[in-house]
Amino acid sequence: MPFPVVDTEYHKEIEKARRDLRALIAFNNCAPIMLRLAWHDAGTYDVSTKTGGPNGSIRNEEEYTHGSNNGLKIAIDFCEEVKAKHHNITYADLYQLAGVVAVEVTGGPTIDFVPGRKDSDICPKEGRLPNATKGAPHLKDIFYRMGLSGKDIVALSGGHTLGRAHPERSGFDGPWTNEPLKFDNSYFVELLKGESEGLLKLPTDIALMDDPEFREYVELYAKDEDAFFRDYAESHKKLSELGFDPS
Ligand code: HEM
Repeated sequence: MPFPVVDTEYHKEIEKARRDLRALIAFNNCAPIMLRLAWHDAGTYDVSTKTGGPNGSIRNEEEYTHGSNNGLKIAIDFCEEVKAKHHNITYADLYQLAGVVAVEVTGGPTIDFVPGRKDSDICPKEGRLPNATKGAPHLKDIFYRMGLSGKDIVALSGGHTLGRAHPERSGFDGPWTNEPLKFDNSYFVELLKGESEGLLKLPTDIALMDDPEFREYVELYAKDEDAFFRDYAESHKKLSELGFDPS
């Protein structure tokens, strides 16, 4: 189903898939990896060539075997269970819906979801996603290439409120917060606290405190969870619609 016809039936199917995703995520406790899947499918977007983006291409072996996607086959396989029941939904929509549901069921903001993304089999070259060992200039290069802003970088980095790093996947180890299955602003609170026993800070997380523009948002989100939720919902929607014109 590469070109979805977004009619009443399609919308109904999306709502059914949304319920199935809620159940699947609750049963498997897999909200973090579902969010990471949605982000890694979308985050390859290049605004200048209009290539990559949330188009389901990450389901192809050529792309999910990229080093930065280590572990994501698990989430792709979870989504396959939902796809099997709702054939006519595109992978592109399914992965983005999974990301939105993952945030919602862990206590995060409601993110507006518009269906109609097309699937693609064209995989971007490796290297479009951020490298965790680098600093603020690299984050800007990568996210500006997607067409996103500095504020988007900080708000979306708050996605690390969920989940953890796995040594066998990325070489890093540990969660960012004490409650990695709860979507809240604790990522920013921990970032400002500095070193905490057992908690992870990637070089790219620390970079958010080094850059003055970024740091302003870190401080805002640490003290004002409503502001974080409002900006996160807006930035996540932008990420989930890169290169997609719903009209
Ligand atoms: C996990 C890097 C942005 C959501 C990870 C991991 C790394 C990483 C190294 C560990 C993977 C593993 O070992 O399993 C980065 C870098 C970013 C970034 C360098 C640049 C800013 C984002 C964004 C989101 C996100 C924008 C979502 C909005 C997640 C989630 C996990 C994760 C939820 C946990 C996955 C799990 O528990 O299995 N990220 N990330 N990340 N990332 Fe990011």
